[in-house]
Amino acid sequence: MISTLIDRLRGAGCVFAEDEARILLDAAHEQAAHASRPSPSSDVTDLLDALVARRIGGEPLEQVVGWVQFCDLRLHVAPGVFIPRQRTVLLAERSIRAMEEAGPSARFLEAFCGVGPVATAVARSVPGAEIHLGDHDETALACARKNVGPRAHSHQLACLTGLPQALLPGGFGVISAVPPYVPDAAAEFLPREAIDHEAPTALFGGVDGLDMVRGLIRDSREWLAPGGTVLIELGREQRHAAAECARTWGYNASSTLGDDEQTTVLELR
Ligand SMILES: C[S@@+](CC[C@H](N)C(=O)[O-])C[C@H]1O[C@@H](n2cnc3c(N)ncnc32)[C@H](O)[C@@H]1O
Repeated sequence: MISTLIDRLRGAGCVFAEDEARILLDAAHEQAAHASRPSPSSDVTDLLDALVARRIGGEPLEQVVGWVQFCDLRLHVAPGVFIPRQRTVLLAERSIRAMEEAGPSARFLEAFCGVGPVATAVARSVPGAEIHLGDHDETALACARKNVGPRAHSHQLACLTGLPQALLPGGFGVISAVPPYVPDAAAEFLPREAIDHEAPTALFGGVDGLDMVRGLIRDSREWLAPGGTVLIELGREQRHAAAECARTWGYNASSTLGDDEQTTVLELR
């Protein structure tokens, strides 16, 4: 069974066909085991066929099997939502450190949270921290709530508009975000899977990619606690323009470059 599966996936252009075959097979077994009662559709072969058809049709593996590995976490993802990227581990690490520095009473917000990779990592590493999630996409928020668990407070937002006034004064000790930051004209450099299966609003940030980054910097002035930290992931070539914008809003800005020499975390205090 497995070698036929590998051949089918390889024939469809899957580069890591062996790994994907194993993951798809495991997913079919898991789904069969969780089927509430035996039925023809809970048969492993039928389930596997359905999963493979979706994958061969071009859907990202993570959306097909319903999860992505992020740090040591297995995060739930639904069809159509943004799939967390491994480069965001850098932002998760910086966020955990900022929360540890902020102290036990600090609230954490992952804005533009998608399925909440950063908030989930913070929730696991900083026991007791109050965790807030914000996104405009209700499907993504539902995944994020599931990933973070019962400590999650979720808010459907336009940038930060829609946060409850009851959180003021005080606001958040740390606000972290991966806003959509791909410049509109860079669409041709994105993988086909992203263009076809993730919402454009989750990817693109205007002419220079910084429309939402500027919105977040502006809105964070109202919501950041005194002495708090804003952490934003963006591309290396965008960091000077974003830092310049942050200075006009009274922030001190510094940045950290990831091992890939491309991903940057902008830190505002
Ligand atoms: C690049 S994804 C990042 C998601 C998540 N932080 C991650 O790293 O996996 C950007 C997210 O911002 C959300 N988004 C886009 N525009 C928004 C807006 N104006 N207000 C709130 N959320 C928005 C999208 O739904 C998407 O989930």
